[in-house]
Amino acid sequence: PQARDGFGPYAGGFTMVPYGDAAALEAAIDENTAAVLIEPIQGEGGVIIPPEGYLRAVREACTANNVLFVADEIQSGLGRVGTTFACDREGVVPDLYLLGKALGGGIIPLSAVVGDRDVLGVIHPGEHGSTFGGNPLAAAVGTTVVEMLASGEFQQRALALGEHLQAQLESLLGSGVTAIRVAGLWAGVDIDPAVGTGREVAEKLLARGVLVKDTHGQTIRMAPPLVIRSTEIDWAIEQLKVVLAG
Ligand SMILES: Cc1ncc(COP(=O)(O)O)c(C=O)c1O
Repeated sequence: PQARDGFGPYAGGFTMVPYGDAAALEAAIDENTAAVLIEPIQGEGGVIIPPEGYLRAVREACTANNVLFVADEIQSGLGRVGTTFACDREGVVPDLYLLGKALGGGIIPLSAVVGDRDVLGVIHPGEHGSTFGGNPLAAAVGTTVVEMLASGEFQQRALALGEHLQAQLESLLGSGVTAIRVAGLWAGVDIDPAVGTGREVAEKLLARGVLVKDTHGQTIRMAPPLVIRSTEIDWAIEQLKVVLAG
């Protein structure tokens, strides 16, 4: 509701279903369904990781019904969760990836819709464009980001350091933190309301040099750069401990 109230009118034809519920998704597909659009891990939602098997079930339902599976990996993609795409966690390949954010190296505005020719080929040159689409500087940065992901080094870092981050965050459970959800170097941390709101914690962390983003009132999201060092994670957690202790 927070993201929708007062923002209409909306593009028609979308049916919303509860996230992580494969049966609800399958039930919503009918002969007029063109595509299913989901985040394989929800970002703004607070790093919501769907139940194991959900992405495979979505893939199977889409294939069985000849419906496109569109994975919005704008937050979850490009190494963040320890694999190139969050869909890789379940060995699933969607028909279209939506990419952004990290694609521009975190500094250049760049986004992309990525898919096979049989899907994207329905749009012909000249039929769809944007003023800055294909910007040479942005395209050069994006190409470099894709090259940097080829060795797997950053995915590996995200995986290993993510385990470290998770262990550190687990130690805060019951001490100002009520729940954590971690995927690679990406964490949703639910703050005990007795300590304050997510926003208040985020602002106190900012004053201590740690950038996090609040979401949904009581949650903060940590998404450090994939080049972060283990000692820097420890330092950030120390700052969080101080803030939680009031
Ligand atoms: C999952 C997801 N999809 C789409 C967007 C929007 O991307 P853009 O800012 O490139 O339009 C965002 C931005 O926060 C996002 O997190």
